[in-house]
Amino acid sequence: MLDQKTIEIIKSTVPVLEVHGEQITTVFYKTMFENHPELLNIFNHANQKQGRQQRALAGTVYAAAKYIDNLEAILPVVNQIAHKHRSLGILPEHYPIVGKHLLIAIKEVLGDAATDEINNAWAEAYGVIADAFISVEAEMYDAAANQRGGWDGFRPFIVEKKVEESEVITSFYLKPVDRKVIASFKPGQYISIKLEIEGEEFTHIRQYSLSDAPGKDYYRISVKKEAGMGTPDGKVSNYLHSSVEEGEVLQISAPAGDFFLDTEKDTPVVLISGGVGLTPMVSMLNTVADLQPEKEVTFIHAAQNGKVHALKDEVAATAAKAKVNSVVFYDQPTEEDRQNNSYDVEGYVTKEWLKENVNLEQSDFYFCGPVTFMKAINSALKDLGVKEERIHFEFFGPMASLEA
Ligand code: HEM
Repeated sequence: MLDQKTIEIIKSTVPVLEVHGEQITTVFYKTMFENHPELLNIFNHANQKQGRQQRALAGTVYAAAKYIDNLEAILPVVNQIAHKHRSLGILPEHYPIVGKHLLIAIKEVLGDAATDEINNAWAEAYGVIADAFISVEAEMYDAAANQRGGWDGFRPFIVEKKVEESEVITSFYLKPVDRKVIASFKPGQYISIKLEIEGEEFTHIRQYSLSDAPGKDYYRISVKKEAGMGTPDGKVSNYLHSSVEEGEVLQISAPAGDFFLDTEKDTPVVLISGGVGLTPMVSMLNTVADLQPEKEVTFIHAAQNGKVHALKDEVAATAAKAKVNSVVFYDQPTEEDRQNNSYDVEGYVTKEWLKENVNLEQSDFYFCGPVTFMKAINSALKDLGVKEERIHFEFFGPMASLEA
C-alpha cells in the first residue's frame, strides 16, 4: 500500500497530468513502439492513428490515480478493460514495459516540473494500478482456460460457412479445427481474431461480437465491411470480406466481455441497435428465444435502408416464435423498401417514440451502435427516467463517453 505522502503527491499531480494527458500518452506510445516494435502485433494501429487509444489509456490511468487509495471504486472499469486485455492476450510481463514508457513520457512532457519525488510517486502508483489489473486478469485467464471447452490464448478455427447478410455485413460461422467442444458464452460477449495479412509486418487483432446464441457447435460473427475508410480497421474487415473464404483458418481467443444479457431476470427487455450494432443484440434475442421464450422483448433496429439491413429474416423468424415485438426503423428507405413495406417507422428512434411504445418502468435496456446513436438513446432513456442500473450499452472500439 502507498504511504500518505505518495498518495497526496499523486492526487495533487493528477490535474497537471490531465492537462498534458494526450501529449504524454502520444510520447508514451511513440517511445514504447520504438523500443518494443513487437507490441505492434497486439495494439490496434487504427486506434493509434485516430488517437482513440491515447484518450482511453490516459483517461484510465488518471481515473485510477484519483482513486489510488480506493481502487475498489473503479473495479467495474478495471473489469471491462481486463476482459479486453484477456481477450488480446496481455500478460503480466507487459505491464512493466508500459509503466517504464509512461514514466519516460511523463518526465519528457513535464520537464523540470517532474521532480524525483513526483517520478517516484508515479512509479509506485503505476505499480499498484498494474497489480490490480494483473490480478483481475489472472482470474479471467484461469476462468477462460478452465471452463468446459475453454482455452488459453488463441485457438485455430475454420471458417465453416460465410453468409452475406446485407450489402455490407457478412457472417462467418467458425468451428474449432480440433472439432472439440467450444466454450459457452454470455449473449453480448465478443471474441478476438488474430489475423496475419499477406505483406503486412505485424499481426492485427480485432474484437467481434458473437451474433448467435450460445450452445451451438460454432461461433458466428457478423462483420461490417468498412469500405473506403482507408484505416487499418477498414483493412481488417475488408480482408475478412474479400480474402477469407470458407475453409480458411482463423486464430480466435475465448469469449470475453462484460456487456451481456442477464438471463436470470424475467422482467422485460428492450434491445436497441443501430447498424452493425445489431450483432450482440441478435445474440441476446436468439438466447431469449431459446431459454426464456415467455420473456417480453422489444427488438428495435435502426438501419439506413433495406440494402444494409442484416439478419432481417432471422430476426423476423425468431420474433414470430417468441414473445418479441420487432420494430424496424429506416432513416433513408429506398423506393423498393417503401413498396415492400419492409420497415415499420421512417426516421430515427426518438424519445417520443420510446415513451409511447416501450415499457419504461420495468424493462432493462441494452443498446449498441454508432456513438451518436448511443448518445441519443442514452439521453432519451435518462430523460424518460429510466434508472441507470437498467441501462446497459457497449461501444465498438475503445470506450468513449456518452455524456454530451
Ligand atoms: C485497451 C487501459 C495496460 C494493451 C485498453 C483500454 C484501456 C486500457 C482503457 C481500452 C479498453 C476498451 O476499449 O474497452 C490500460 C491501463 C493499463 C493498461 C490503465 C495499465 C495499468 C496495458 C498493457 C498492454 C495493454 C500492459 C500491453 C502491452 C492494450 C491493448 C488494448 C488495450 C492492445 C486494445 C486497444 C488497442 O488495440 O489499441 N487498455 N491498459 N494495456 N490495452 Fe491496455
